Amino acid sequence: MSKILVTGGTGYIGSHTVVELQNKGHEVIIVDNLSNSQIDVLDNIFSISGVKPEFEQFDLFDREKTLDFFRRHNEIDAIIHFAAYKAVGESVENPLMYYHNNIFSLVNILTGMIENKIDTIVFSSSCTVYGQPDELPVDENAPIKKAMSPYGNTKQISEEIITDTLHSSKLKAILLRYFNPIGAHESAKIGELPLGIPNNLVPFITQTVIGIREQLKVFGDDYKTPDGTPIRDYIHVVDLAKAHVIAVDRMLEHKNKKNLEIFNLGTGNGYSVLEVINSFEKVTGEKLNYKIVDRRPGDVTEVWADTKFANDELGWKAEKGIDEMNLSAWKWELALDAKKKTK
Ligand code: UD1
Repeated sequence: MSKILVTGGTGYIGSHTVVELQNKGHEVIIVDNLSNSQIDVLDNIFSISGVKPEFEQFDLFDREKTLDFFRRHNEIDAIIHFAAYKAVGESVENPLMYYHNNIFSLVNILTGMIENKIDTIVFSSSCTVYGQPDELPVDENAPIKKAMSPYGNTKQISEEIITDTLHSSKLKAILLRYFNPIGAHESAKIGELPLGIPNNLVPFITQTVIGIREQLKVFGDDYKTPDGTPIRDYIHVVDLAKAHVIAVDRMLEHKNKKNLEIFNLGTGNGYSVLEVINSFEKVTGEKLNYKIVDRRPGDVTEVWADTKFANDELGWKAEKGIDEMNLSAWKWELALDAKKKTK
């Protein structure tokens, strides 16, 4: 059993990862500033795993607080770093907020790690670093393309900061490049909680069907894909969470082959926007109100993962299909709705 610091552990992917870490017997301490998540997530984690994780609330971009935290917690064995802003549009509006939070937090964490001789970190990166890849499926050696947004740039810069830091220290890191995480835990006790209007497809679908939003806008049907809508590799958040546990254990058990390893996390299957909608309607029996509108600036046409390296090296494979992803997302929305009505 190891003690893992999960930054952003009350957030969407973070909370699912905390549960999977606990399922494997790890002890978890969460740091989160609750800027995009809620404190009740801790109780919800407890009601799934039977263990309430330790928790501290502060801003990781605050250097003094972060270094003080590390001095007080020299029992930490490894870090999984999720805490970051992630809304593409917002990052275009307010780039400095994104650079300030996402970059300073990482620098402070790495500094705290070196000072306190913690040498293991898993970093939450994104397939956004590949832009529109020249070849599909996209593997980990595909070239990094110029970022389309400050958000995407913070992921690229963060990968570089970690890489440079490894060269001059004893640190080891695994960078996990996620494709499109959707869905929720089967208990419907944790899931995605978008603040305000969702930017991402599936939360927008579930909010529209439940009646919070009037209509989903499908951003363009004139792409060069079979049905004209863009194709993505959607991956169930629980599958994604499990990969984090494998990645951190790999380093803690000294099974990593290099100090820096990079894995794509997807299913290897691409679905168009209309295929996601069809699957959602089929598994839920609900009808979605949507209309086709203009393209959204910055969207790539199609991207899906080559999963071979992650499958072979991590011994990990995404198990859940698109129908299961949609159904779990819908059950989560229904659970949120039921909770709202009893308040
Ligand atoms: C987006 C980000 C990506 C980030 C990821 C996870 C952009 C350009 N990319 O990925 O950097 O890592 O979220 O946060 O924003 N769609 C609609 N209507 C909607 C919403 C989405 O048609 O209301 C379509 C989009 O055009 C896209 C697909 O659904 O084709 C998926 O969109 P989304 O869920 O936002 O993910 P990405 O854009 O792939």
